[in-house]
Amino acid sequence: MLKLTDLHVNYGPIKALQGVSIDIEPNNITAIIGANGSGKSTMLSVISGLIIPDQGEIYYKDIAIHTKPVEERVKQGIAHVMEGRRLFKDQSVHDNLLLGFYFRNSKENKKNMLKQINEVYDRFPILGEKKSQLAGTLSGGQQQLLIISMAILSKPQLLLLDEPSLGLAPIVVDQVYQYLEELKAQGVTIIVSEQMAALAIRIADYGYVLERGKVVGKGDIHYLKSMMESDEMSSVYFG
Ligand SMILES: Nc1ncnc2c1ncn2[C@@H]1O[C@H](COP(=O)(O)OP(=O)(O)O)[C@@H](O)[C@H]1O
Ligand SMILES: [Mg+2]
Repeated sequence: MLKLTDLHVNYGPIKALQGVSIDIEPNNITAIIGANGSGKSTMLSVISGLIIPDQGEIYYKDIAIHTKPVEERVKQGIAHVMEGRRLFKDQSVHDNLLLGFYFRNSKENKKNMLKQINEVYDRFPILGEKKSQLAGTLSGGQQQLLIISMAILSKPQLLLLDEPSLGLAPIVVDQVYQYLEELKAQGVTIIVSEQMAALAIRIADYGYVLERGKVVGKGDIHYLKSMMESDEMSSVYFG
């Protein structure tokens, strides 16, 4: 589904990614685990096209995309939920959700759109309660939920989530992660970055561990669990 080969990204003298190669299977949930500053956000931004790598290649469904602009990648079904909050703060919650449809290839009729937005309200009732409020008046966690919902309404084939648990109450984190498992069941491929590996490991099929811009470990759920049990790793990544 997605293949990154020998990616390098420098911010001036800072080497954020130093030869990262990863392979993402379709219809899998892949966890990117690493401490603050290890390069997780940079990696996701390289996939979505916000950052052009200094070196390396990205193949998405066997097509080179590393030179394609962000909009092109969005059209091909790649959605990126960023760490910083990107929403229309002076628009209502409801209008923000309508904007979630904006990037879809096929045109939806209004009735269909409202049906899907109502499903979001059923799932996250707080968004339904606040649907007429300006998005900028929501708490940080509620804004995060709104952004995740907007990305999901765009019906991505590849969903990139950068530390989705940040700022969310534990019960909401559970809801979001459960939602991700349902999306996977519907055929969405998901890459999720987390500092707190214990969270991502609950749903991941496969994981990569990043350290100072390099992949220092990778493996399936058994590997990730065994890492969690090793003392030296667990103190660094698992809190
Ligand atoms: N815009 C930027 N300018 C300069 N340095 C940056 C920038 N963004 C990230 N970095 C640096 O690149 C490294 C990787 O950062 P990042 O990808 O944000 O890691 P993570 O998401 O794992 O915390 C860090 O050393 C960080 O300080
Ligand atoms: Mg980050």
